[in-house]
Amino acid sequence: MHFSTAISGAVALFSISVFAAPNELTPRENPVAIPAKLVPESIANATALGVDVWGPIPDDATEGDGYYTAEPGTLGWAWIRAQQDLGEYEKELETRGLLPTAAIEKRQSTSIIVNTYSGDWCTGTAWHFTNPAYNSRWVPIENAFWFSIGFSSRTLRANEYVQLRRGPFNGDRCTTWHGSINGPTSPGTCWQIASTTCFELKQN
Ligand SMILES: *[C@@H]1O[C@H](CO)[C@@H](O)[C@H](O)[C@H]1NC(C)=O
Repeated sequence: MHFSTAISGAVALFSISVFAAPNELTPRENPVAIPAKLVPESIANATALGVDVWGPIPDDATEGDGYYTAEPGTLGWAWIRAQQDLGEYEKELETRGLLPTAAIEKRQSTSIIVNTYSGDWCTGTAWHFTNPAYNSRWVPIENAFWFSIGFSSRTLRANEYVQLRRGPFNGDRCTTWHGSINGPTSPGTCWQIASTTCFELKQN
């Protein structure tokens, strides 16, 4: 019971614009045009900047200890934000037999992706964690705060949860637990969270 308390005030945003995009896009490896209405806005935005959402993170992102971080307006940011909608998008492509080879390859090395943001509704500076280990406490190097978070590649499973913690500047940034996001979660959700400086992926 103790971890079934969802963060009070946590709001799940199911983006209504996820499958609305103006342009028809074709992934590099795939000659079949994907119907524009299937392409989430974040993926359309990244692709319009020339970012391959199934490729490596663009060079302008900064590597930290177990994560990448990027500022809004950079290629790295567009890539990170797109990762968040990739899992759901791939499902749509797969049902139509349009999943590119690069997506299948990426899946083989990716379990869960955690994206954290300094702003509300998955805006602001972005941090990107690929396959964060269970029972490890993940913090940004800088004295930053996170106010929203999203998962991709897969959602949180029923037996998984993410502990949200915070701590003081220049101190233990994980010292206080203030809430959890409990699986199972829905794909494509951006979670609004109270100011957070540390997260830990755990299993029941
Ligand atoms: C996509 O780009 C437009 C125009 O810059 C912006 O308003 C919108 O917020 C972006 N969408 C996402 C999901 O970042």
